[in-house]
Amino acid sequence: MKGFLYEGKSKTIYAGDSFDTLVIKYKNTLTAFNGEKSEEKEGKGSLNARTSHLIYNYLSSHGINTHLVKQIDEVSFICRKAEIIPVEIIVRNVAAGSFSKKYGVEEGHSLKSVSLEYSLKSDELGDPMINTSQILALGISTEKELKFLEKEALKINELLKALFLKIGIKLVDFKLEFGRVNDEIILCDEISADSCRLWDVETGKKLDKDIFRRDLGDVLDGYRELLSRLENTIGKEEKL
Ligand code: TMP
Repeated sequence: MKGFLYEGKSKTIYAGDSFDTLVIKYKNTLTAFNGEKSEEKEGKGSLNARTSHLIYNYLSSHGINTHLVKQIDEVSFICRKAEIIPVEIIVRNVAAGSFSKKYGVEEGHSLKSVSLEYSLKSDELGDPMINTSQILALGISTEKELKFLEKEALKINELLKALFLKIGIKLVDFKLEFGRVNDEIILCDEISADSCRLWDVETGKKLDKDIFRRDLGDVLDGYRELLSRLENTIGKEEKL
């Protein structure tokens, strides 16, 4: 692949064939706790690439603009080149993870309304939580953009909740990243078992990266099960 640009924890970015595209290649690396825990798992990259591809196609067919252009191999996609807004948006439907820890709420407690939270994208600073007033004060984003991001994140939440429910999965929480292209804001990065908490509706079994974070078994078993459930629903619809 030509034109190496940047190596992240779970993806590598290369220059695209044209000035307005990039090639994003999924790695087999799993990390947690800001990279403190790390492991290589053969096949993880392609599982996440396929999962994210299916989810982005589904979102796109429901009116969400994304960076995805085309898959070029098992682990690589051509994507639109966007200026990433350095804020991670975390959407929560059910208390878990850092939310449960920080606010003393039991994991699994259903939230009365959707919780939106923001972190500054900075490995150096450990992605600190940031509020909208601080985002504006630092000039990271504008009020107009923040309004759009909030609306878009909530819309994506509704679409994903419905999708996962169809395949017997509860969408507990997830993380989104957006980028600017000209006057547009598009969904970037990925949505996969790395960036969501997903629990089986019947058994509560985890099908996401918490299996790795918490040493609960073979993480790829969860990732495979998630992908196969998705392929059996939207995967089929997509091929029509
Ligand atoms: P948290 O409970 O650890 O704050 O995580 C909330 C959600 O965000 C969870 O689905 C995992 C996802 N997430 C990421 O995708 N990347 C990250 O760096 C972190 C901390 C969380």
